Amino acid sequence: MTTRPADVNLADPELYADGDPYAAWRALREHEPVAWQAVSGTLGFWSVTRYEDVERVLEDHVSFTSERGTLLSLLGRDDPAAGRQMAVTDPPRHDRMRAPLHRALRLRSAEAHAGQIRAGIRELLPDVPPGAERTFDFAAACAQLPLVVLGPLLGLPARDRPRLVRLAMMCAAEDDPEHQLPGGPEATLQRGHRELFAYFADLVRERRRRPPEDADRDLAEGAGDLVDVLLSMEVDGARLTPGEVLSNCYSLLLGASVTLAHVPPAAVLELSRTGRYTDWAADPDLLDSGVEEALRWASPARHFMRYARRPVVLADMPLGAGDPVVAWLGSANRDGTVFTRPDVFDPGRRRNRHLAFGAGPHYCAGASIARVTLRLFFAELFARYAEIEVTGTPRRARSTFLSGITHLPVRVRPRQKEVAR
Ligand code: HEM
Repeated sequence: MTTRPADVNLADPELYADGDPYAAWRALREHEPVAWQAVSGTLGFWSVTRYEDVERVLEDHVSFTSERGTLLSLLGRDDPAAGRQMAVTDPPRHDRMRAPLHRALRLRSAEAHAGQIRAGIRELLPDVPPGAERTFDFAAACAQLPLVVLGPLLGLPARDRPRLVRLAMMCAAEDDPEHQLPGGPEATLQRGHRELFAYFADLVRERRRRPPEDADRDLAEGAGDLVDVLLSMEVDGARLTPGEVLSNCYSLLLGASVTLAHVPPAAVLELSRTGRYTDWAADPDLLDSGVEEALRWASPARHFMRYARRPVVLADMPLGAGDPVVAWLGSANRDGTVFTRPDVFDPGRRRNRHLAFGAGPHYCAGASIARVTLRLFFAELFARYAEIEVTGTPRRARSTFLSGITHLPVRVRPRQKEVAR
Protein backbone atom coordinates (compact mmCIF):
# COMPACT_ATOMS: atom_id res chain seq x y z
CA MET A 1 0.00 0.00 0.00
CA THR A 2 1.45 3.35 -0.99
CA THR A 3 0.41 6.71 0.37
CA ARG A 4 -0.45 9.61 -1.88
CA PRO A 5 2.51 11.96 -2.13
CA ALA A 6 0.59 15.13 -1.26
CA ASP A 7 3.25 17.40 -2.70
CA VAL A 8 3.79 15.56 -5.98
CA ASN A 9 3.67 17.98 -8.88
CA LEU A 10 3.16 16.19 -12.18
CA ALA A 11 3.59 19.48 -14.05
CA ASP A 12 7.16 19.89 -12.78
CA PRO A 13 9.71 18.73 -15.39
CA GLU A 14 12.20 18.15 -12.58
CA LEU A 15 10.16 15.13 -11.42
CA TYR A 16 11.02 13.39 -14.70
CA ALA A 17 14.70 14.38 -14.78
CA ASP A 18 15.71 13.44 -11.24
CA GLY A 19 12.62 12.17 -9.43
CA ASP A 20 10.56 9.00 -9.60
CA PRO A 21 7.41 9.57 -11.66
CA TYR A 22 6.59 5.85 -11.47
CA ALA A 23 6.23 6.01 -7.68
CA ALA A 24 4.06 9.13 -7.96
CA TRP A 25 1.85 7.54 -10.63
CA ARG A 26 1.56 4.29 -8.63
CA ALA A 27 0.34 6.22 -5.60
CA LEU A 28 -2.12 8.22 -7.69
CA ARG A 29 -3.50 5.09 -9.40
CA GLU A 30 -4.12 3.66 -5.97
CA HIS A 31 -5.49 6.71 -4.14
CA GLU A 32 -6.66 9.31 -6.59
CA PRO A 33 -6.83 7.96 -10.14
CA VAL A 34 -8.39 11.20 -11.39
CA ALA A 35 -6.66 13.98 -9.45
CA TRP A 36 -6.68 17.75 -9.90
CA GLN A 37 -3.17 19.07 -10.43
CA ALA A 38 -2.95 22.79 -9.75
CA VAL A 39 -0.39 24.68 -11.82
CA SER A 40 -0.78 28.36 -11.01
CA GLY A 41 -3.74 30.48 -9.95
CA THR A 42 -6.84 28.76 -11.33
CA LEU A 43 -4.81 27.00 -14.01
CA GLY A 44 -4.51 23.24 -13.59
CA PHE A 45 -5.54 19.93 -15.12
CA TRP A 46 -7.06 16.58 -14.26
CA SER A 47 -4.41 13.89 -14.05
CA VAL A 48 -5.57 10.47 -15.23
CA THR A 49 -3.30 7.58 -14.28
CA ARG A 50 -5.18 4.24 -14.55
CA TYR A 51 -5.05 2.24 -17.78
CA GLU A 52 -8.81 1.97 -18.14
CA ASP A 53 -9.36 5.72 -17.71
CA VAL A 54 -6.43 6.72 -19.94
CA GLU A 55 -7.83 4.50 -22.68
CA ARG A 56 -11.31 6.01 -22.23
CA VAL A 57 -10.02 9.60 -22.49
CA LEU A 58 -8.11 8.82 -25.69
CA GLU A 59 -10.92 6.83 -27.30
CA ASP A 60 -13.89 9.00 -26.36
CA HIS A 61 -13.49 11.94 -28.73
CA VAL A 62 -17.12 12.88 -28.19
CA SER A 63 -16.45 13.77 -24.55
CA PHE A 64 -12.81 14.80 -24.93
CA THR A 65 -11.56 17.05 -27.72
CA SER A 66 -8.04 17.27 -29.17
CA GLU A 67 -8.77 20.65 -30.76
CA ARG A 68 -7.59 22.83 -27.90
CA GLY A 69 -4.11 21.31 -27.75
CA THR A 70 -2.75 17.92 -26.78
CA LEU A 71 0.44 18.77 -24.91
CA LEU A 72 0.86 20.25 -21.44
CA SER A 73 3.24 22.84 -22.86
CA LEU A 74 0.13 24.47 -24.37
CA LEU A 75 -1.97 24.43 -21.20
CA GLY A 76 -3.95 27.64 -20.85
CA ARG A 77 -3.89 28.71 -24.51
CA ASP A 78 -5.59 27.19 -27.49
CA ASP A 79 -3.64 25.40 -30.20
CA PRO A 80 -3.58 27.56 -33.35
CA ALA A 81 -3.32 24.42 -35.52
CA ALA A 82 -6.76 23.12 -34.45
CA GLY A 83 -8.74 21.81 -37.41
CA ARG A 84 -5.71 22.22 -39.69
CA GLN A 85 -3.29 19.64 -38.31
CA MET A 86 -4.48 16.05 -38.07
CA ALA A 87 -3.23 15.50 -34.51
CA VAL A 88 -5.29 18.44 -33.21
CA THR A 89 -8.44 17.89 -35.27
CA ASP A 90 -11.43 15.87 -34.11
CA PRO A 91 -13.42 13.36 -36.15
CA PRO A 92 -15.06 13.44 -38.63
CA ARG A 93 -12.69 15.93 -40.35
CA HIS A 94 -9.76 14.21 -38.65
CA ASP A 95 -10.63 10.87 -40.26
CA ARG A 96 -10.74 12.41 -43.72
CA MET A 97 -7.30 13.98 -43.20
CA ARG A 98 -5.85 10.81 -41.77
CA ALA A 99 -7.01 8.26 -44.36
CA PRO A 100 -4.61 9.14 -47.24
CA LEU A 101 -1.66 9.72 -44.91
CA HIS A 102 -2.27 6.51 -43.06
CA ARG A 103 -2.52 4.60 -46.34
CA ALA A 104 0.75 6.13 -47.51
CA LEU A 105 2.50 5.39 -44.23
CA ARG A 106 1.34 1.79 -44.30
CA LEU A 107 2.32 1.32 -47.93
CA ARG A 108 5.65 2.90 -47.33
CA SER A 109 6.27 1.12 -44.11
CA ALA A 110 7.92 -2.22 -43.66
CA GLU A 111 9.12 -3.96 -46.76
CA ALA A 112 9.18 -0.91 -49.02
CA HIS A 113 11.84 0.82 -46.96
CA ALA A 114 13.35 -2.01 -44.92
CA GLY A 115 16.60 -2.08 -46.91
CA GLN A 116 17.13 1.66 -46.60
CA ILE A 117 16.26 1.69 -42.90
CA ARG A 118 18.60 -1.25 -42.17
CA ALA A 119 21.46 0.52 -43.98
CA GLY A 120 20.81 3.69 -41.95
CA ILE A 121 20.78 1.73 -38.69
CA ARG A 122 24.14 0.13 -39.57
CA GLU A 123 25.65 3.59 -39.83
CA LEU A 124 24.39 4.58 -36.38
CA LEU A 125 25.96 1.66 -34.51
CA PRO A 126 29.78 1.65 -34.37
CA ASP A 127 31.64 -1.37 -35.68
CA VAL A 128 34.00 -3.04 -33.22
CA PRO A 129 36.80 -5.34 -34.37
CA PRO A 130 36.74 -8.93 -33.07
CA GLY A 131 38.31 -9.27 -29.62
CA ALA A 132 38.11 -5.53 -28.94
CA GLU A 133 35.60 -3.48 -26.97
CA ARG A 134 34.34 0.03 -27.41
CA THR A 135 32.64 2.67 -25.30
CA PHE A 136 30.24 5.21 -26.77
CA ASP A 137 27.13 7.21 -25.99
CA PHE A 138 24.30 4.85 -26.99
CA ALA A 139 21.54 7.47 -26.62
CA ALA A 140 23.43 9.92 -28.83
CA ALA A 141 23.86 7.16 -31.44
CA CYS A 142 20.09 6.54 -31.38
CA ALA A 143 19.18 10.24 -31.67
CA GLN A 144 19.08 10.12 -35.45
CA LEU A 145 17.18 6.84 -35.73
CA PRO A 146 13.86 8.62 -36.48
CA LEU A 147 15.45 10.61 -39.29
CA VAL A 148 16.80 7.40 -40.82
CA VAL A 149 13.13 6.52 -41.29
CA LEU A 150 11.56 9.90 -41.78
CA GLY A 151 14.26 11.23 -44.14
CA PRO A 152 13.16 9.04 -47.07
CA LEU A 153 9.47 9.32 -46.14
CA LEU A 154 9.49 13.12 -46.26
CA GLY A 155 12.33 13.48 -48.77
CA LEU A 156 14.67 15.21 -46.27
CA PRO A 157 18.37 15.41 -47.18
CA ALA A 158 20.69 13.49 -44.82
CA ARG A 159 22.77 16.61 -44.15
CA ASP A 160 19.79 18.27 -42.44
CA ARG A 161 19.26 15.48 -39.90
CA PRO A 162 21.28 16.84 -36.95
CA ARG A 163 19.58 20.23 -37.26
CA LEU A 164 16.11 18.69 -37.45
CA VAL A 165 16.78 16.49 -34.40
CA ARG A 166 17.88 19.58 -32.46
CA LEU A 167 14.84 21.63 -33.49
CA ALA A 168 12.44 18.78 -32.70
CA MET A 169 13.95 18.48 -29.21
CA MET A 170 13.50 22.24 -28.70
CA CYS A 171 9.80 21.80 -29.48
CA ALA A 172 9.23 18.68 -27.38
CA ALA A 173 11.61 19.12 -24.44
CA GLU A 174 11.75 22.90 -24.06
CA ASP A 175 12.55 22.59 -20.34
CA ASP A 176 15.62 20.45 -20.89
CA PRO A 177 18.81 22.44 -20.18
CA GLU A 178 20.65 20.80 -23.07
CA HIS A 179 18.09 22.05 -25.57
CA GLN A 180 16.82 25.19 -23.90
CA LEU A 181 17.87 28.59 -25.25
CA PRO A 182 19.06 31.33 -22.87
CA GLY A 183 15.62 33.02 -23.17
CA GLY A 184 13.90 30.13 -21.33
CA PRO A 185 11.36 27.41 -22.23
CA GLU A 186 8.83 29.65 -23.99
CA ALA A 187 11.50 31.28 -26.18
CA THR A 188 12.89 27.81 -26.96
CA LEU A 189 9.48 26.52 -27.99
CA GLN A 190 8.76 29.56 -30.17
CA ARG A 191 12.13 29.45 -31.89
CA GLY A 192 11.91 25.68 -32.50
CA HIS A 193 8.43 26.08 -34.05
CA ARG A 194 9.50 29.04 -36.17
CA GLU A 195 12.61 27.36 -37.55
CA LEU A 196 10.88 24.08 -38.29
CA PHE A 197 8.02 25.85 -40.05
CA ALA A 198 10.51 27.91 -42.07
CA TYR A 199 12.39 24.73 -42.97
CA PHE A 200 9.24 23.01 -44.20
CA ALA A 201 8.06 26.17 -45.95
CA ASP A 202 11.21 26.02 -48.12
CA LEU A 203 10.77 22.31 -48.74
CA VAL A 204 7.12 22.67 -49.73
CA ARG A 205 7.80 25.74 -51.90
CA GLU A 206 10.41 23.73 -53.75
CA ARG A 207 7.97 20.85 -54.28
CA ARG A 208 5.21 23.14 -55.56
CA ARG A 209 7.51 24.27 -58.35
CA ARG A 210 7.23 20.80 -59.86
CA PRO A 211 4.47 20.39 -62.44
CA PRO A 212 1.50 18.79 -60.58
CA GLU A 213 1.34 15.99 -63.18
CA ASP A 214 4.89 14.89 -62.17
CA ALA A 215 3.87 14.61 -58.53
CA ASP A 216 0.65 12.77 -59.47
CA ARG A 217 2.64 10.35 -61.62
CA ASP A 218 5.15 9.68 -58.80
CA LEU A 219 2.32 9.03 -56.39
CA ALA A 220 0.55 6.70 -58.81
CA GLU A 221 3.82 4.77 -59.24
CA GLY A 222 4.36 4.65 -55.48
CA ALA A 223 7.45 6.88 -55.79
CA GLY A 224 6.05 10.07 -54.20
CA ASP A 225 6.76 10.86 -50.59
CA LEU A 226 4.56 12.11 -47.75
CA VAL A 227 4.95 15.74 -48.78
CA ASP A 228 3.54 14.79 -52.19
CA VAL A 229 0.67 13.01 -50.45
CA LEU A 230 -0.09 16.09 -48.34
CA LEU A 231 0.10 18.40 -51.36
CA SER A 232 -2.23 16.27 -53.44
CA MET A 233 -4.81 15.18 -50.88
CA GLU A 234 -8.30 16.62 -50.75
CA VAL A 235 -10.28 17.01 -47.56
CA ASP A 236 -13.94 18.00 -47.79
CA GLY A 237 -13.54 18.74 -51.50
CA ALA A 238 -10.52 21.07 -51.19
CA ARG A 239 -6.75 20.60 -51.27
CA LEU A 240 -4.93 21.41 -48.03
CA THR A 241 -3.74 25.02 -47.81
CA PRO A 242 0.03 25.60 -47.73
CA GLY A 243 -0.27 26.30 -43.99
CA GLU A 244 -2.04 22.97 -43.43
CA VAL A 245 0.61 21.09 -45.40
CA LEU A 246 3.36 22.71 -43.30
CA SER A 247 1.56 22.03 -40.08
CA ASN A 248 1.19 18.34 -40.91
CA CYS A 249 4.86 18.02 -41.97
CA TYR A 250 5.76 19.52 -38.61
CA SER A 251 3.50 17.07 -36.83
CA LEU A 252 4.99 14.08 -38.66
CA LEU A 253 8.51 15.17 -37.86
CA LEU A 254 7.75 15.79 -34.22
CA GLY A 255 5.61 12.64 -33.86
CA ALA A 256 8.43 10.47 -35.08
CA SER A 257 11.58 12.16 -33.96
CA VAL A 258 10.93 12.68 -30.29
CA THR A 259 9.61 9.18 -29.68
CA LEU A 260 11.38 6.51 -31.70
CA ALA A 261 14.91 7.43 -30.60
CA HIS A 262 14.08 6.91 -26.95
CA VAL A 263 12.90 3.31 -27.04
CA PRO A 264 16.28 1.52 -27.45
CA PRO A 265 18.13 3.46 -24.68
CA ALA A 266 15.36 2.79 -22.14
CA ALA A 267 15.42 -0.92 -22.97
CA VAL A 268 19.22 -1.19 -22.97
CA LEU A 269 19.49 0.56 -19.60
CA GLU A 270 17.10 -1.93 -18.00
CA LEU A 271 18.61 -4.96 -19.77
CA SER A 272 22.07 -3.93 -18.59
CA ARG A 273 20.84 -3.33 -15.04
CA THR A 274 19.21 -6.76 -14.85
CA GLY A 275 21.83 -8.63 -16.89
CA ARG A 276 19.17 -9.84 -19.35
CA TYR A 277 20.60 -8.50 -22.61
CA THR A 278 22.13 -11.84 -23.61
CA ASP A 279 18.88 -13.75 -22.89
CA TRP A 280 16.86 -11.59 -25.22
CA ALA A 281 19.61 -11.38 -27.84
CA ALA A 282 19.92 -15.18 -27.88
CA ASP A 283 16.28 -15.85 -28.72
CA PRO A 284 15.14 -14.58 -32.15
CA ASP A 285 11.59 -15.71 -31.36
CA LEU A 286 11.41 -12.92 -28.79
CA LEU A 287 12.19 -10.12 -31.21
CA ASP A 288 8.58 -9.02 -31.79
CA SER A 289 7.35 -9.43 -28.20
CA GLY A 290 10.55 -7.77 -26.93
CA VAL A 291 9.95 -4.73 -29.13
CA GLU A 292 6.41 -4.42 -27.74
CA GLU A 293 7.83 -4.67 -24.24
CA ALA A 294 10.44 -2.03 -25.04
CA LEU A 295 7.62 0.26 -26.21
CA ARG A 296 5.61 -0.35 -23.04
CA TRP A 297 8.70 0.11 -20.89
CA ALA A 298 9.91 3.30 -22.57
CA SER A 299 6.50 4.93 -23.25
CA PRO A 300 8.39 7.82 -24.88
CA ALA A 301 5.31 10.04 -25.05
CA ARG A 302 4.49 10.39 -21.35
CA HIS A 303 1.16 12.07 -21.80
CA PHE A 304 -1.42 13.42 -24.19
CA MET A 305 -3.90 16.07 -23.21
CA ARG A 306 -7.56 16.58 -24.07
CA TYR A 307 -10.27 19.02 -22.93
CA ALA A 308 -13.67 17.84 -21.67
CA ARG A 309 -16.29 19.06 -24.15
CA ARG A 310 -19.12 18.69 -21.66
CA PRO A 311 -19.58 17.67 -18.01
CA VAL A 312 -18.38 14.08 -17.72
CA VAL A 313 -17.81 11.60 -14.90
CA LEU A 314 -14.50 9.75 -14.99
CA ALA A 315 -13.74 7.13 -12.32
CA ASP A 316 -16.49 8.68 -10.14
CA MET A 317 -14.96 12.14 -10.45
CA PRO A 318 -17.17 14.84 -12.01
CA LEU A 319 -15.23 16.91 -14.56
CA GLY A 320 -16.53 20.23 -15.84
CA ALA A 321 -16.98 21.26 -19.46
CA GLY A 322 -13.76 22.88 -20.66
CA ASP A 323 -11.52 21.18 -18.07
CA PRO A 324 -8.09 20.07 -19.32
CA VAL A 325 -7.46 16.35 -18.85
CA VAL A 326 -4.00 14.77 -19.05
CA ALA A 327 -3.81 11.04 -19.80
CA TRP A 328 -0.48 9.65 -18.53
CA LEU A 329 0.47 6.86 -20.94
CA GLY A 330 3.59 6.03 -18.93
CA SER A 331 1.42 5.37 -15.89
CA ALA A 332 -1.20 3.32 -17.77
CA ASN A 333 1.59 1.10 -19.09
CA ARG A 334 2.64 0.20 -15.53
CA ASP A 335 -0.88 -0.49 -14.26
CA GLY A 336 -0.73 -3.76 -12.31
CA THR A 337 -4.41 -4.49 -12.96
CA VAL A 338 -3.58 -4.92 -16.64
CA PHE A 339 0.06 -6.05 -16.69
CA THR A 340 1.41 -8.81 -14.46
CA ARG A 341 4.67 -7.73 -12.79
CA PRO A 342 4.37 -4.30 -14.46
CA ASP A 343 7.75 -3.09 -13.22
CA VAL A 344 9.64 -5.98 -14.78
CA PHE A 345 10.97 -5.74 -18.33
CA ASP A 346 9.99 -9.07 -19.85
CA PRO A 347 10.83 -9.49 -23.55
CA GLY A 348 8.58 -12.56 -23.67
CA ARG A 349 5.52 -10.77 -22.25
CA ARG A 350 2.27 -12.00 -23.79
CA ARG A 351 -0.95 -10.06 -24.44
CA ASN A 352 0.95 -6.81 -24.13
CA ARG A 353 -1.85 -4.28 -24.77
CA HIS A 354 0.34 -1.26 -24.04
CA LEU A 355 -0.80 2.27 -24.82
CA ALA A 356 2.57 3.63 -25.98
CA PHE A 357 1.00 4.45 -29.36
CA GLY A 358 -2.17 5.83 -27.76
CA ALA A 359 -5.69 4.58 -28.53
CA GLY A 360 -8.80 5.65 -30.43
CA PRO A 361 -8.95 7.91 -33.49
CA HIS A 362 -5.50 9.45 -32.95
CA TYR A 363 -3.75 6.09 -32.48
CA CYS A 364 -0.23 6.68 -33.80
CA ALA A 365 -0.28 6.96 -37.58
CA GLY A 366 3.37 5.85 -37.70
CA ALA A 367 2.98 2.79 -35.44
CA SER A 368 3.61 0.17 -38.11
CA ILE A 369 6.71 1.87 -39.45
CA ALA A 370 7.94 2.48 -35.89
CA ARG A 371 7.53 -1.23 -35.10
CA VAL A 372 9.39 -2.31 -38.24
CA THR A 373 12.19 0.13 -37.48
CA LEU A 374 12.57 -1.06 -33.90
CA ARG A 375 12.63 -4.71 -34.98
CA LEU A 376 15.35 -3.93 -37.51
CA PHE A 377 17.23 -1.91 -34.90
CA PHE A 378 17.23 -4.59 -32.19
CA ALA A 379 18.02 -7.34 -34.72
CA GLU A 380 21.07 -5.35 -35.83
CA LEU A 381 22.09 -4.59 -32.24
CA PHE A 382 21.95 -8.27 -31.27
CA ALA A 383 23.77 -9.36 -34.43
CA ARG A 384 26.52 -6.87 -33.80
CA TYR A 385 27.15 -6.90 -30.05
CA ALA A 386 27.40 -9.98 -27.83
CA GLU A 387 27.38 -7.78 -24.74
CA ILE A 388 26.37 -4.26 -23.86
CA GLU A 389 26.90 -2.75 -20.47
CA VAL A 390 26.00 0.69 -19.15
CA THR A 391 29.17 2.27 -17.75
CA GLY A 392 28.02 5.69 -16.51
CA THR A 393 25.08 7.67 -15.22
CA PRO A 394 22.23 8.04 -17.72
CA ARG A 395 20.93 11.54 -18.32
CA ARG A 396 17.17 11.86 -18.51
CA ALA A 397 15.39 14.60 -20.44
CA ARG A 398 13.85 17.26 -18.24
CA SER A 399 10.40 17.19 -19.79
CA THR A 400 6.78 16.55 -18.85
CA PHE A 401 6.15 15.13 -22.33
CA LEU A 402 9.22 13.30 -23.53
CA SER A 403 10.32 10.27 -21.57
CA GLY A 404 13.83 9.96 -22.87
CA ILE A 405 17.41 9.27 -21.97
CA THR A 406 19.61 11.75 -23.78
CA HIS A 407 23.01 10.30 -22.79
CA LEU A 408 23.83 6.70 -21.99
CA PRO A 409 27.50 5.68 -21.86
CA VAL A 410 27.91 2.00 -22.75
CA ARG A 411 30.67 -0.53 -23.39
CA VAL A 412 30.06 -3.11 -26.08
CA ARG A 413 31.81 -6.30 -27.11
CA PRO A 414 31.26 -7.61 -30.64
CA ARG A 415 29.79 -10.94 -31.49
CA GLN A 416 32.37 -13.36 -32.87
CA LYS A 417 31.92 -13.62 -36.61
CA GLU A 418 31.34 -17.17 -37.81
CA VAL A 419 34.39 -18.40 -39.67
CA ALA A 420 33.49 -19.47 -43.20
CA ARG A 421 34.36 -23.09 -43.80
C1 HEM B 1 8.10 4.70 -30.81
C2 HEM B 1 7.63 5.56 -31.67
C3 HEM B 1 6.34 6.32 -31.53
C4 HEM B 1 5.52 6.48 -30.43
C5 HEM B 1 5.71 5.93 -29.03
C6 HEM B 1 4.41 7.33 -30.87
C7 HEM B 1 3.34 7.70 -30.05
C8 HEM B 1 2.20 8.33 -30.50
C9 HEM B 1 1.01 8.56 -29.71
C10 HEM B 1 0.84 8.15 -28.26
C11 HEM B 1 0.11 9.20 -30.50
C12 HEM B 1 -1.32 9.62 -30.10
C13 HEM B 1 -1.47 11.11 -29.89
C14 HEM B 1 -2.81 11.51 -29.33
O1 HEM B 1 -3.60 10.65 -28.91
O2 HEM B 1 -3.10 12.73 -29.27
C15 HEM B 1 0.73 9.40 -31.79
C16 HEM B 1 0.14 10.03 -32.87
C17 HEM B 1 0.80 10.28 -34.05
N1 HEM B 1 2.04 9.79 -34.44
FE1 HEM B 1 3.26 8.63 -33.35
N2 HEM B 1 4.59 7.65 -32.18
C18 HEM B 1 5.75 7.03 -32.63
C19 HEM B 1 6.28 7.08 -33.91
C20 HEM B 1 5.75 7.79 -34.94
C21 HEM B 1 6.31 7.85 -36.28
C22 HEM B 1 7.54 7.08 -36.76
C23 HEM B 1 5.51 8.70 -36.99
C24 HEM B 1 5.61 9.15 -38.44
C25 HEM B 1 6.15 8.47 -39.40
C26 HEM B 1 4.45 9.16 -36.11
C27 HEM B 1 3.45 10.04 -36.46
C28 HEM B 1 2.32 10.28 -35.68
C29 HEM B 1 1.22 11.11 -36.15
C30 HEM B 1 1.12 11.85 -37.48
C31 HEM B 1 0.26 11.10 -35.11
C32 HEM B 1 -1.10 11.79 -35.09
C33 HEM B 1 -2.15 10.79 -35.52
C34 HEM B 1 -3.57 11.33 -35.53
O3 HEM B 1 -3.80 12.40 -34.97
O4 HEM B 1 -4.44 10.65 -36.08
N3 HEM B 1 4.63 8.58 -34.88
N4 HEM B 1 2.01 8.84 -31.77
